[in-house]
Amino acid sequence: RTGIVIALDGPSGSGKSSTSRGVATRLGLRYLDTGAMFRAMTWAMLEAGIDVHDAAAVAAYATTPQLVSGTDPQAPTIHVDGVDVGEAIRGEAVTGAVSPVSTVPEVRTRLLELQREIIGDGDIVVEGRDIGSVVAPDAEVKLYLTADAAARAARRALEEGGSDVAATEASLLARDAIDSTRKAAPLTMPDGATHIDTTAYTLDQVIDQVIALVQAVQ
Ligand code: C5P
Repeated sequence: RTGIVIALDGPSGSGKSSTSRGVATRLGLRYLDTGAMFRAMTWAMLEAGIDVHDAAAVAAYATTPQLVSGTDPQAPTIHVDGVDVGEAIRGEAVTGAVSPVSTVPEVRTRLLELQREIIGDGDIVVEGRDIGSVVAPDAEVKLYLTADAAARAARRALEEGGSDVAATEASLLARDAIDSTRKAAPLTMPDGATHIDTTAYTLDQVIDQVIALVQAVQ
């Protein structure tokens, strides 16, 4: 690898996406949202009529959809079999089904292969749940972002155009519980990661902290 890899992990709504995109934009790096890949896989399963709680059916379908991820931090894109699913993957149906789909090892193996292909020679910011631990354990900079559940729910509800904060918090906590207790590549703070609790910081303050860490290793 010739370029740098910056790995950002953390629970839903911790500020990973805005931080990752901001850091990639300011440093002129590519950006990969691995959550969007799991969401796209889930969208494909729902389209195919697969019961997302039937692990054998999910496993059998895991190699079928063709996923293409665009890596521009200012305009990230994701296509499944040529269909732009950028908006559809943010809907309630996918959000409610993505965590069970993401527990299935065959899904993770398939997406891991695609993620490593995209990371390639580096110069990329990668966000997810298992980037510093599994996908790119050799990343030059690893961050683990957290925030209070109430702050995370408030941010996410705002992003979703004013959905109910209490319902959003319940949905976030349900996903966190599945994501951090699953057997395959659970959400965890990776070895060597810097923990930032973003609750009390603005987005720009978090981006500045990450950029300082990147500059320290260059
Ligand atoms: O980041 P985002 O909230 O869009 O991720 C959606 C879901 O995808 C997570 O709740 C998790 O179940 C799954 N995911 C994962 N591993 C990753 C990224 C996301 O299991 N690296």
